Amino acid sequence: MNLYNARRTNNAKLLNWVDEMATLCKPDEIYWCNGSQTEYDRLCAEMVRSGTLIPLNSAKRPNCFLARSAASDVARVEDRTFVCSRRREDAGPTNNWVDPVEMKRTLRSLFDGAMRGRTMYVVPFSMGPLGSPIAQIGVQLTDSPYAAVNMRIMTRVGQNVLEVLDGSDFVPCLHSVGAPLGRGQTDVPWPSNETKYIVQFPEERAVWSYGSGYGGNALLGKKCFALRIASAMARDEGWLAEHMLILGVESPQGEKTYVAAAFPSACGKTNFAMLIPPAGFDGWKVTTIGEDIAWIKRGKDGRLRAINPEAGCFGVAPGTSRQSNPNAMQMLHQNTIFTNVALTDDGDVWWEGMDGAPPAHAIDWQGNDWTPQSGTKAAHPNSRFTAPSAQCPSLDPAWEDPEGVPISAFIFGGRLSKTFPLVFQALDWSHGVYLGATLGSEATAAAVGQAAIRRDPMAMLPFCGYNMADYWGHWLKIGRGIANAPLIFRVNWFRKGDSGKFIWPGFGQNMRVLKWIVDRVHGRAGAVESPFGHMPRYQDLNWDGFKLDHATFHAIMDINRDEAMREAEDQKTHFALFGDRLPAELELHRMMLAARLSTAPTVWKSPD
Ligand code: GTP
Ligand code: SPV
Ligand code: MN
Repeated sequence: MNLYNARRTNNAKLLNWVDEMATLCKPDEIYWCNGSQTEYDRLCAEMVRSGTLIPLNSAKRPNCFLARSAASDVARVEDRTFVCSRRREDAGPTNNWVDPVEMKRTLRSLFDGAMRGRTMYVVPFSMGPLGSPIAQIGVQLTDSPYAAVNMRIMTRVGQNVLEVLDGSDFVPCLHSVGAPLGRGQTDVPWPSNETKYIVQFPEERAVWSYGSGYGGNALLGKKCFALRIASAMARDEGWLAEHMLILGVESPQGEKTYVAAAFPSACGKTNFAMLIPPAGFDGWKVTTIGEDIAWIKRGKDGRLRAINPEAGCFGVAPGTSRQSNPNAMQMLHQNTIFTNVALTDDGDVWWEGMDGAPPAHAIDWQGNDWTPQSGTKAAHPNSRFTAPSAQCPSLDPAWEDPEGVPISAFIFGGRLSKTFPLVFQALDWSHGVYLGATLGSEATAAAVGQAAIRRDPMAMLPFCGYNMADYWGHWLKIGRGIANAPLIFRVNWFRKGDSGKFIWPGFGQNMRVLKWIVDRVHGRAGAVESPFGHMPRYQDLNWDGFKLDHATFHAIMDINRDEAMREAEDQKTHFALFGDRLPAELELHRMMLAARLSTAPTVWKSPD
């Protein structure tokens, strides 16, 4: 075996693990990544030569590349994702489970010789700023140079990580695509869905992923480590690992308020995190700390403090435009890897929902000629970009503060075309946990084969590394221990009118809701109690620069009693899944909702 370069660590656990995995996977070479720009450029150039990456027009998109995946490898595969705790009940009813000993046997046979003819990249990475008391170290072994370069964007990769590692522990993350990404190399068949395995071992704190090159399945620092493994760590150590964006709101007076928000995959986290306040909000500013994952710990000051464990954005391309998200568009100008978007004739990228008219001709995400008349999507609905956070114009100056930022409010939001109003506030922490636990959302393209509508508690359904009912109990416990706990809110940008169109304009206009939330935190905005919780009156929201008529306000705020009652009934089925592990408080909140509704008018009208 050829050692491409010298190992640069004395960590015995790491050296032994790399040796053991190399013996199993049998790569031709082992390459230790140092995280440098030179190394990144070289790996990209090699992928251009092999056909995995297409360089984009360097005048329009400097140092940017396009990758096309296999047509069957475009999203997370939830039915092939496993939480292999020792006991089945610790994974809970919402996770796929296989006995860890049996799973290791299956995986060992798949990984045996899986890297023959290829290089094994050793990628040491930090989730969170190096040296932060909230940060953690991982090491990914992968035979995919695409995964290696994407990891360099998404996490902090490099030699300095190995130096920190000399005296500490790390999460081992093993990854093989089982076949090359990209269509240039068709000699090895792509693994069928049944041979994909995205496996977490929560007690061992290890990840094994086989058969996919797609983001959440292959960039193991992200969902596998930062959510599934980290949520199990957080349970044991008293903190939170959440599928949340983190943003700062600065008032014209310079008052700074940080909030964290959980929306399910492809439901608006990246967009909300980079919001630009609309007309009518002169002097208000929104800044970005994170757009997908938050690690939250109690700080020395007793407050809940959050860091973004990532260093890049792996965002949804379709719908991103200068109109909807100018910050993201600017972020994507350089040093970005695009996956499964369309290629224009002038060497730029395009996707549905970008500004301006569609190009007259392009190459679609599968490499075929495309015109607006084709009747197909040019970009895959879950096509994505990988870009360094540092390029985001709205980045908060404290985004790398090792202590994290103090969180004043949590927001839970789904994609729901009816029943749920634009915004309401939980009556207290425990009610807020109930609102998170019953979060529902409609299907998106971020996961393969998702049911039309499903419960997605705290937007963590596919990401909670242990029994969901225990996770709710953990949330209840966290809130109980802190003074002035963050307020909790529910939002819904996606209610539809009779015409089937979204009623609320969303994007920048979400600032109106955000300001009400911030004002509630500081005790200066009004609300009335509805069957769901505290709701703003028309007059409690700022309508400067955007005159929403009262009829439309009612269309997004009113509560239809029968619909809400059906919701309360349906929550019973959801809770029943967890048997006696369900915290009793949550069922009590459900009964209270039903009781409030039983005396409510047919349509509960939000006061003007
Ligand atoms: P993940 O990366 O999968 O976790 O997704 P995300 O939660 O970051 O979602 P993202 O911000 O990428 O948005 C997903 C889709 O929702 C995009 O097509 C957006 O254009 C659309 N979207 C985001 N915010 C809004 C909104 O306020 N209103 C409407 N109607 N659509 C929105
Ligand atoms: C999501 O699906 O929630 C994402 C993309 O953020 S992935 O990295 O694939 O999980
Ligand atoms: Mn996500």
